[in-house]
Parts: sequence; C-alpha cells; structure tokens
Amino acid sequence: MSKNIDWSNLGFGYIKTDYRYVSKYKDGKWDDGAIVEDDQITLSECACVFQYCQACFEGLKAYTTADGKIVCFRPDMNAQRMADSAKRLVMPEFPIDKFVDAVHRVVEANKEFVPPYGTGASLYLRPFMIGTNPVIGVKPADEFEFRIFCTPVGPYFKGGAKPITIKVSDFDRAAPNGTGNIKAGLNYAMSLYPITVAHEEGFAENMYLDAGTRTKVEETGGANFIFVTKDGTLVTPKSDSILPSITRRSICEVAEKYCGMKVEHREVLFSEVKDFAECGLCGTAAVISPVGKIYDHGTEICFPAGMEEMGPYTKKIYDTLTGIQKCEIEGPEGWVHVIE
Ligand code: PLP
Ligand code: COI
Repeated sequence: MSKNIDWSNLGFGYIKTDYRYVSKYKDGKWDDGAIVEDDQITLSECACVFQYCQACFEGLKAYTTADGKIVCFRPDMNAQRMADSAKRLVMPEFPIDKFVDAVHRVVEANKEFVPPYGTGASLYLRPFMIGTNPVIGVKPADEFEFRIFCTPVGPYFKGGAKPITIKVSDFDRAAPNGTGNIKAGLNYAMSLYPITVAHEEGFAENMYLDAGTRTKVEETGGANFIFVTKDGTLVTPKSDSILPSITRRSICEVAEKYCGMKVEHREVLFSEVKDFAECGLCGTAAVISPVGKIYDHGTEICFPAGMEEMGPYTKKIYDTLTGIQKCEIEGPEGWVHVIE
C-alpha cells in the first residue's frame, strides 16, 4: 500500500519517511548497522562535522516500474564515489557491498513511500557520512556516522522537463586541485550565496567556469552539462574539478550504444557554447533538464529548440535513459538493481 501522498504534484523537498539506516565507526571499525526509526542525530557541539565540515554525501533514486517492481539505478557507482569522497576528506571507506545492501534495506523498509509508476516522482535516497567526535585543533575526526535516509521527490526544477534559463556565475565553484571532484558538503556551502542570488534574479541555476582561467565550462551547482553539436555529437565537459556524474557517464554510454551518436568527453570552451544546438543539465536530481537560454553579463545565448521543449537529441537520450531506469528498455548489465 502506498502512502496517501499527492505524488504527481511533489516538488524536490524533504518529507520524513518511516525508516533510515545508521552505522557508526569507532575504534577503527564500522558496526553492523541497523534500520532505525529515529530521524534525529545528537552530537557534541564540537563534533568535527560542525567545526570543520567533515562531511560527504550521495544521491540516488528508486523507482516503480510498469510491472510493479521497485528498482534503483547503479548504487554501486554511488558507493564507489562516496569511498573516493571519504578518502579525500580523511574519512573511512564505507564498504561498497554494505552500502548497496543498506540502499536495498532502506528502500524495502520505506516501500510505501516509493511513488507509483507513471506519477513522474521517485524515491530519492541520501547517503551521507559525518565526523562525529569533538575536535578543536584542525584535524580529522576518528569517529563517524554513516546514514541513509530517503524522501519522495518530484522534479528538481519547477516545470519538470521544460527548458530552464541559467546564468554564467561570477563566483567560482571549485579550485584546481581542490574538492570539486568529490561530493563534499563544503562544495555546496559555497554555492548557497550564488544560487540565492541567481534565484532572486530569476535564473534556475549557475553555470560555473573553471576557476583557473574562467574560459572553460565546468558544471552547475548540482548537475553536469551535456551539449549536442549541430551535427548530432554529444559533448560533455571534462575537468578535474567537476563531480564525475553517474548520470553523465550513463548518458555517454546511452548516446553511443543506444542512440548511435558520436560522443566527446573533453574540455569545452565557453566561447564554443553559442555554437551548440542543444544544452542540458544532468544529474540524479536533475535527470536531464534542457537549458533553453544562458545569460552572460547582458548577452543571451538561446538554443534553437526554444523555451517550450527539449531538443530532439536530448529527448532521445532522455527517453532512452529513463526507459532503462524504469526497465522499459533493457539496459547494460548491472545498471538496474531490483529491490523487490
Ligand atoms: N554535479 C554536482 C555538483 C552534483 O551535485 C550532482 C549530483 O549528484 C551531479 C553533478 C550529478 O551527479 P549524479 O549524476 O551522479 O547524480
Ligand atoms: C543529486 O542530484 O543527487 C544531488 O545531490 C544534487 C543536489 C544539488 C540535489
């Protein structure tokens, strides 16, 4: 039985669900972990997460398929990326198999919150890890908590799959050799001011350029870019300071193997952007959100598909990717994990 929720009108917000998974790290090892009801965390005021932001997180989704199964998409990739984030932040790796098992357990326990097929909504899972013991000198914690909670969500951007308008930011997201390539909370703390300003000005997101030269496209606050050239080649920006999006890596494979497109993962100059035929944002939350217009200090770059619909290549990729995610199209081996 599903919960009594207006699934089709959900935004991307937090709704408390019934269960979450918690595991604690102490004396050099993780405990067995458990599904619990308590959504509250009580910690010392001096916990490392509060003082020095020792925290990383992940995001992935579970869906209901047409034949009523509950599935999730590539959780092993999130587990691996979290291990990479943890290493960079001097946190212990949460084992990949335990991570995937915890994802299954959280979804199973909250199955009444998995939106029904056809509603456009999904169950968003948020795994995260924090340094929990008190530290006052600048050093890593040695006790940690790993947790996965979930919340039913609708589209990340208002208007669903309608093209959005974004602006080129005057702020930088990540420094060369910094933490842009991991999913650390601190990367999002720095984006709160720029995204607030962008929203006040009527833009849905910021396009960040590379901090070193401000000539190359990096990503937005919460998604990677995809571009399509006039002759139908998919181009995705390559940089050591952007998050290696699982959606973007999946899209590159889908475009090549399912849509027959040429795919280039390379540095993208901002000066090239005006010549692309299509532009979109991709990520777990964003799925694929078409970008209709980019505002750059008084100049507008308008993509040919306009502000009403996705361009044809983006649409083909979107339909194929979401078809695979919902088991309507057979995806590559191991992409879809059946939960029940
Ligand atoms: N880039 C940033 C900064 C993000 O926060 C996200 C979201 O996770 C992405 C890209 C997309 O990554 P993924 O496709 O793995 O969700
Ligand atoms: C995700 O897509 O999972 C993210 O973490 C992006 C976040 C900005 C909501």
